Amino acid sequence: TWTPGAFVDLTVSELKEKIGDKKVVLGLSGGVDSTVAAVLLNKAIGKNLYCIFVNNGLLRKNEFESVLDQYKHMGLNVKGVDASARFLDALKDLVDPEAKRKAIGNTFIEVFDDEAHEIQDVTFLAQGTIYPDVIESVSVNGPSVTIKSHHNVGGLPDFMKLKVVEPLRMLFKDEVRRVGAELGIDKELLGRHPFPGPGLAIRILGDVTEERVRILQEVDHIFIQGLRDWMLYDKVWQAGVILLPIQSVGVMGDERTYEQVVALRAVESTDGMTADWVDLPHEFLQKISNTIINRVKGVNRVVYDISSKPPATIEWE
Ligand code: XMP
Repeated sequence: TWTPGAFVDLTVSELKEKIGDKKVVLGLSGGVDSTVAAVLLNKAIGKNLYCIFVNNGLLRKNEFESVLDQYKHMGLNVKGVDASARFLDALKDLVDPEAKRKAIGNTFIEVFDDEAHEIQDVTFLAQGTIYPDVIESVSVNGPSVTIKSHHNVGGLPDFMKLKVVEPLRMLFKDEVRRVGAELGIDKELLGRHPFPGPGLAIRILGDVTEERVRILQEVDHIFIQGLRDWMLYDKVWQAGVILLPIQSVGVMGDERTYEQVVALRAVESTDGMTADWVDLPHEFLQKISNTIINRVKGVNRVVYDISSKPPATIEWE
């Protein structure tokens, strides 16, 4: 029978054997899979694992700083790279969802390639690929985990010519979480909802600007923190907020406002392939809606998405 302890022991010795004293580069995304892969490799080869954590400026509020801190506390050899401006620049004036994904994917590859070049004599590229990624080749993880070749235009970036190491490729998500727990990774990190690689860019319908990212980060933070405070976070498979490209009329004091609308989304799912909207307590929705409208300047209306997948998707783009 499969146990996380036996998996860790076997995998660590296999990694030691395979890698020896060579260097490995790995992109951390802040998600469960890349984190577990990194901690396993760290156990096997220590400082010869070079982790790169890229801030694309499209993460949740404060996420880059707090997750980078956590990585350092875990003893990982990690470099945080703030490339927010570069991503925003690449997204300028883009509206089409696939064009946004492509711009983000390409920028990530450029940034990662630059960083990988800084490390001398790297032999391996490690990825947090898990079994569903292998069979579907559609990943619910960040682009830092599964990099698809169609993202790049001018030939293969150098880091993609490296030998690939994928210690989790035979595991399902729940097994990855159990391995993570075995390795002593923080429970909260292991229980995190999935988050798309293109991040908030595909939750801002229309073009992505610094101001819109900031507004969405604020609203998203209130919603996610609210789910945690109400002990609802773990009952939901994924949750987030979508910033709509429309304004609606409201009233504040004796003034009319004409501001943005946000949609809250929370779903239950096992693999993201199908999903049902979650019937969150009305009292909770009422409180969250009030808090958002009172605290976040520029938003005067909150709606709740009651569509299931199919035919709707989880994300709006
Ligand atoms: P949809 O919207 O297709 O999403 O129902 C299913 C799951 O996939 C995530 N998702 C993505 N993840 N890059 C990713 O890494 C993407 O471009 C992407 N698009 C959707 C989504 O958050 C959900 O978990």
